[in-house]
Amino acid sequence: MMISGKAKLAGVMGWPVGHSRSPRLHGHWLERYGIDGAYVPLSVPPDRIEQAIRALPALGFRGCNVTVPHKEAAWRTVDRLDATAKRMGAVNTIVVGEDGALEGRNTDGFGFIENLKSGAPGWKASDGPAVVIGAGGAARAVVASLLDEGAPLVWLINRTRARAEELAGDIGGAIEVADWVSRETLLEGAALVVNTTTQGMAGQPPLDLDLRALPASAVVTDIVYTPLITPLLEAAQARGNRVVDGVGMLLHQARPGFAAWFGTEPEVTEELRRVVLAG
Ligand code: ATR
Repeated sequence: MMISGKAKLAGVMGWPVGHSRSPRLHGHWLERYGIDGAYVPLSVPPDRIEQAIRALPALGFRGCNVTVPHKEAAWRTVDRLDATAKRMGAVNTIVVGEDGALEGRNTDGFGFIENLKSGAPGWKASDGPAVVIGAGGAARAVVASLLDEGAPLVWLINRTRARAEELAGDIGGAIEVADWVSRETLLEGAALVVNTTTQGMAGQPPLDLDLRALPASAVVTDIVYTPLITPLLEAAQARGNRVVDGVGMLLHQARPGFAAWFGTEPEVTEELRRVVLAG
């Protein structure tokens, strides 16, 4: 493939970055919309991340995505943060402004909500309390976005309770931290259940969660998307709950960056899902 001298440039910084599906995702959109642009994997070690981010304007990059383990370092490095990124303490999307300044955004929560809205039509955060399991970086975006969207209450449960307390303190608002042992009784009042832990990923044990008490109307979603239908989603499906798989969060979180760098609002389609999940 030939990249012209006028190509709009973006990419993803990670370490390692080889596993990232973002080049495939943005590559598909660039092709589909016939844009003269390129989106490349950028393998940046932790001791050079600040230098690499600072170099974006000089290299003519429109911006980039930032993935594990660089999201916090990016947050510290950029010149400006939007309100969401400020609150998250993490940046996943950098846009080089007209003035050459580096603007940090966090679109993970947007991706999470958009995925639920398109995967479970009619679902609203205000439908009722959400039970969120896990307290890592992904949980932070999930909890904040649910509250912003009008969830009346978020029950936060983590194996290590102290991490959940810390997250609740940082985000603020209608969050109740509960003990790991009480997770199954909380399901009784839930309108949404979210797994943000690594449990259920291929090679990991399933999330230890009995769904018996969950109302039939509740929606169940998982951040994990390898496999697409995790044991948790399988169990939820079997009892008739609506389920939303996790890959859509990845697809939707990519939209704002693509629009900012390449000037076209991209669409999440079945074909895109297939391309990203292939191989
Ligand atoms: P990320 O930032 O991507 O969300 P993370 O910070 O490593 O990833 O968080 C992983 C989450 O999975 C945490 O909530 C972790 O719980 P702890 O805070 O107690 O470590 C959760 N997790 C990992 N292994 C688990 C297990 N065996 N049982 C329950 N939760 C687990």
